[in-house]
Amino acid sequence: MEQVMEKDMDKQMQELVAARIRITKYAHGFMESMSLKCVLELGIADILHKNTKPMTLQELAAALPSPPTVDMDRLRSLLRYVVHHMGLFTLDNKDGTYGLTRYSEFLLQDGESYLVPMFLQTLTDWGIGAWYCLSNSISQGGPTAFERYHGMTNWDYMASHPDMNRRFNKVQEGITKEMFGVIVQRCGSWLFNGIGSLVDVGGGNGTAAKEIVKEFPSIKCIVFDLPHVMRSNSDKNSEVEWVEGDMFKSVPHADAILLKSILHDWSDDHCMKILQRCKEAINPPEGGKVIIIDMVIDINQDIDMYPTLVLDMFMMVTFGGKERTSEEWERLIRNAGYSKCKITPVLATASIIEAYT
Ligand SMILES: C[S@@+](CC[C@H](N)C(=O)[O-])C[C@H]1O[C@@H](n2cnc3c(N)ncnc32)[C@H](O)[C@@H]1O
Repeated sequence: MEQVMEKDMDKQMQELVAARIRITKYAHGFMESMSLKCVLELGIADILHKNTKPMTLQELAAALPSPPTVDMDRLRSLLRYVVHHMGLFTLDNKDGTYGLTRYSEFLLQDGESYLVPMFLQTLTDWGIGAWYCLSNSISQGGPTAFERYHGMTNWDYMASHPDMNRRFNKVQEGITKEMFGVIVQRCGSWLFNGIGSLVDVGGGNGTAAKEIVKEFPSIKCIVFDLPHVMRSNSDKNSEVEWVEGDMFKSVPHADAILLKSILHDWSDDHCMKILQRCKEAINPPEGGKVIIIDMVIDINQDIDMYPTLVLDMFMMVTFGGKERTSEEWERLIRNAGYSKCKITPVLATASIIEAYT
């Protein structure tokens, strides 16, 4: 009997210790983000990749941008953390060399992926600062966490920080190229069937519009975005038309409107206004549609919830928006005066939501 009680106590103690470790990990989660940022800034994955074989600490230090001033103890501690805790690199204990892992390929600066630019953008004051204001933004309502921290909306911030604006649009371009290409290939034939003209509202660098005209050259595409986005856009080719403006005031007329990764940036009240302006812009007023590409939270219940949860929080903190369930999408679209809504899941983080006028 005593032995059984002791066993129970042990189990309870182990569970308590495990819970304590887990909660401490959450509190120190910023160390993972900041160590990742440091690894990227030092270009460690690029150095190892260029060298093609594992390197010692000394060799790595010598390859850093300013080798004479490198603090070897600090570099060793950083590598110890990212090797043992994060698995970013390997360490061969026999010869003390560091090597690449399957994660490292996502850390290459000149890689194809948009991940490095996205990480480097998120891990700045732009992406992180607002999180200090999260609890007030929830408990007091009103301004978003971003507005509380930066004193302006994200879009005003972008207008007054041209470098960040260029980076933001470039990252969006990478995300959209990867995701929208698949959507056009898989669903383009029925999605754009019968459409002669389309406005990509909040179209950024025009990536989605360019993908559409590449596959369907007969569709006249207009990219519509804020003036500072149009100004920063260096690749304004003539395959599509470029129009600057504010979607809360009016939207250029067309047979159909595309809203890709737009509505999840906004609250329901803002979305109602955007959807109403889009409805007014559709020619003819009946039988047209708005094509929304965004996440539908509850549509793929068997997938890992992590990307959804992260995006939902990020939208709330940075833009004042949110991800929505199918019920929430249907309600929003109906309340904005549309007759019908059809949802087609395509990817884990993107569904096609058609709102018919
Ligand atoms: C998340 S980005 C999406 C860009 C693009 N649709 C894509 O998926 O690659 C949101 C876009 O909405 C634009 N935007 C924000 N407020 C706007 C407004 N009032 N009128 C027009 N565009 C706006 C931003 O400038 C930005 O390009």
